Amino acid sequence: MSIRRWLPWLVLLPALLRRGGVAAAAGKVPAVIVFGDSSVDTGNNNFIPTIARSNFWPYGRDYADGQPTGRFSNGRLATDFISEAFGLPPCIPAYLDANLTIDQLSSGVSFASAATGLDNATAGVLSVITIGEQLQYFREYKERLKMAKGERKAGEIIGEALYIWSIGTNDFIENYYNLPERRLQYTVAQYEAYLLDLAEAAIRDVHSLGGRKMDFTGLTPMGCLPAERIGNRDDPGECNEDYNAVARSFNGKLQGLAVRLNKELPGLQLVYADTYNILTAIVNRPSDYGFENAVQGCCGTGLFEAGYFCSMSTSLLCQNANKYVFFDAIHPTEKMYKIIADTVMNTTLNVFL
Ligand SMILES: *[C@@H]1O[C@H](CO)[C@@H](O)[C@H](O)[C@H]1NC(C)=O
Ligand SMILES: *[C@@H]1O[C@H](CO)[C@@H](O)[C@H](O)[C@H]1NC(C)=O
Ligand SMILES: *[C@@H]1O[C@H](CO)[C@@H](O)[C@H](O)[C@H]1NC(C)=O
Repeated sequence: MSIRRWLPWLVLLPALLRRGGVAAAAGKVPAVIVFGDSSVDTGNNNFIPTIARSNFWPYGRDYADGQPTGRFSNGRLATDFISEAFGLPPCIPAYLDANLTIDQLSSGVSFASAATGLDNATAGVLSVITIGEQLQYFREYKERLKMAKGERKAGEIIGEALYIWSIGTNDFIENYYNLPERRLQYTVAQYEAYLLDLAEAAIRDVHSLGGRKMDFTGLTPMGCLPAERIGNRDDPGECNEDYNAVARSFNGKLQGLAVRLNKELPGLQLVYADTYNILTAIVNRPSDYGFENAVQGCCGTGLFEAGYFCSMSTSLLCQNANKYVFFDAIHPTEKMYKIIADTVMNTTLNVFL
């Protein structure tokens, strides 16, 4: 056969391969890799000495087999539903669970730690895992993937995975507004800038290690958490609007950061995922979304209990967590997390589907 007959194919083939490659990459997220706090910790704190825990009843009451896992909810978290929406496992495993093999972690993993923040000092309050340590575990994870799957396959997973950050609330409610040190050092605006620098450093770090598709989740209306309503000295029981204003301000700056980094870092696709508006809508009109209570958590009095306090007041535990926006005084119920996941998938993460 003459080369003439083959020539068109030889010219076309690389282009066809490129098209196939791009299409596959655009439609494929092989893993969901998570950094952050209790909103996305699937059990890492079970394996470190801290009181910031939830691996006991009534947490996990509505989880697969009614077992507590270390998730601060009655069931799954938003990131679990997001993983499922990408056709990946319905539950994201915790990195520090030593029983899990690298194979079991290769389609998703959480490095998150309840009670942590972007600020090292926040992680220090309850001796939990700092964001720097989470990134260090990610480096270790990448090396383990290489050993198990080979350089090429590991590079594919790292390069096409979706990275999710959900962090920052504790820097304000556990640290800045709760302890004097940072408030003496920084105005709120300065502290926001400090946190944004730390967020930027974390994003750059993952990018330098090969990560490209990223979601940085914005802050929720944290002044409407049951615990913050009770702590609202000016207007007890009402949302702390000062805290909500800080969340909106921080979220605006986060969006600016995403625009800037997407221009600067090659191949980066960093999206800001808004959770502020859906939570505000639900807190304002819970019955529109099938909830009966958006003011108290399901456990205890629902006003202040979280962690161990939830396990101490079980006689007051609500019957049906699906009627509640919050499971404890700080953390959403599984039903609320599902709505957050659906909203974020539809409005933001669909670009990665
Ligand atoms: C790990 O596996 C061992 C043996 O099956 C079991 O006893 C232990 O509870 C497991 N640990 C965790 C954290 O699941
Ligand atoms: C946070 O702590 C880590 C480890 O101790 C340290 O390397 C890092 O520089 C600290 N970050 C800041 C912003 O202080
Ligand atoms: C998300 O999109 C799906 C499919 O279009 C739709 O059925 C669902 O109601 C949407 N959910 C939210 C919370 O927007």
